[in-house]
Amino acid sequence: MGSRKKILAISGSTRADSVNVHILTAIAAMYSGEVAITLYTGIDQLPHFNPDLDTGNGPATVADFRKQILEADGVLICTPEYIYSLPGSLKNAIEWTVSTILFTDKPVALITASSSGQKAHEALALLMSTIGAKISASLLISAPKTKISAAGQITDEATLSGIRQLMDTFIRTLSEN
Ligand SMILES: Cc1cc2nc3c(=O)[nH]c(=O)nc-3n(C[C@H](O)[C@H](O)[C@H](O)COP(=O)(O)O)c2cc1C
Repeated sequence: MGSRKKILAISGSTRADSVNVHILTAIAAMYSGEVAITLYTGIDQLPHFNPDLDTGNGPATVADFRKQILEADGVLICTPEYIYSLPGSLKNAIEWTVSTILFTDKPVALITASSSGQKAHEALALLMSTIGAKISASLLISAPKTKISAAGQITDEATLSGIRQLMDTFIRTLSEN
């Protein structure tokens, strides 16, 4: 048995009481025996992407973000939809990886948890496949506030089962990669 695979979890919402952060935290607890999930909380600290700043390893926050992606075996993204698309902060963070090969063949799992979320979910899949990521599994959780308690517990059985299916597939992909 090798060591536990490392997953970098990124929330597209930077809100303190974000349902997307709650979902990632719940998943990290559910799977702590199988994989090591680290929540990256710095997307709102990254500068606005500008190709002129994209030299060398980039600004310090960007260099750290890139290092965390490099060191992870896979990346789990969980995001809300903002105005029928991705939140700007998440899109900005991903733009900082475009000049790299960090996501080339990197296994990713994609969750959109949003009032509706369909368009952001499609946009995220298009974006990640465009930068070469290997999309292992994805899940759309609409109306998440009816499925996750204020304390961050996933109370809806179908949502729990969807998350288990996504994570089982994702962990299998990581072990085969
Ligand atoms: C600026 C903004 C735009 C939004 N636009 C959408 C939208 O287009 N579609 C949607 O499903 N929800 C939209 N919402 C609602 C979010 O889905 C909802 O606030 C969600 O809970 C945010 O996730 P969080 O709790 O992780 O922050 C929007 C929310 C904000 C703040």
